[in-house]
Amino acid sequence: MLNDGFLFLLDSFLTHKNDFFSVILQKKFFVMSENFIISSSLDKKSIYESLLLQIPALIADEPDIVANLANLSAVFHQTFKWWWVGFYLVKEDFLVLGPFQGPVACTRIAFGKGVCGTAWKEKRSLLVPDVNDFSGHIACSSISVSEIVVPLYNSSSEVVGVLDIDSEKFGLLDEADIYYLEQISTIIGKALFA
Ligand code: SME
Repeated sequence: MLNDGFLFLLDSFLTHKNDFFSVILQKKFFVMSENFIISSSLDKKSIYESLLLQIPALIADEPDIVANLANLSAVFHQTFKWWWVGFYLVKEDFLVLGPFQGPVACTRIAFGKGVCGTAWKEKRSLLVPDVNDFSGHIACSSISVSEIVVPLYNSSSEVVGVLDIDSEKFGLLDEADIYYLEQISTIIGKALFA
């Protein structure tokens, strides 16, 4: 015999089953996000190797560019504690500010201007150990002293945006970052800008 308690639960489930499945779905995505493992105890190379393994899975099931770039900004910021990290996306003649983590930033950078616009124009990554040495550097924040910009490409090898990293410390960013960030840029380009 079914008792009243069970019938009440069954009735509640049938009435609210869409909400129930929605909660399950959200929980799944929550757990998936939680499964992104970031260890601060590893050396830089090992941290990047770990990111290279996990990033494809992080962006695999979500087709929206902004959603994925937002999560990637969060991963970079949480992992490396960079002062500013984010994306600028090509929109006609400008790089326009996209998802980022850090202080408020310049919203629009022209082709060939600043470190970002130069990386776009020259289609290459730029490591700027001291921003005072880069003529035309655009100072969104006076606290940032060194910078890396890595272009993102589509399948036609056109620049579709840049990944920009700013540090408040000298010597934190180096060629090893460029080496790994270019690999991450390739993953992003293939997954999101095919
Ligand atoms: N410094 C960059 C501008 C962007 S901000 O650093 C976020 C540049 O010179 O292009």
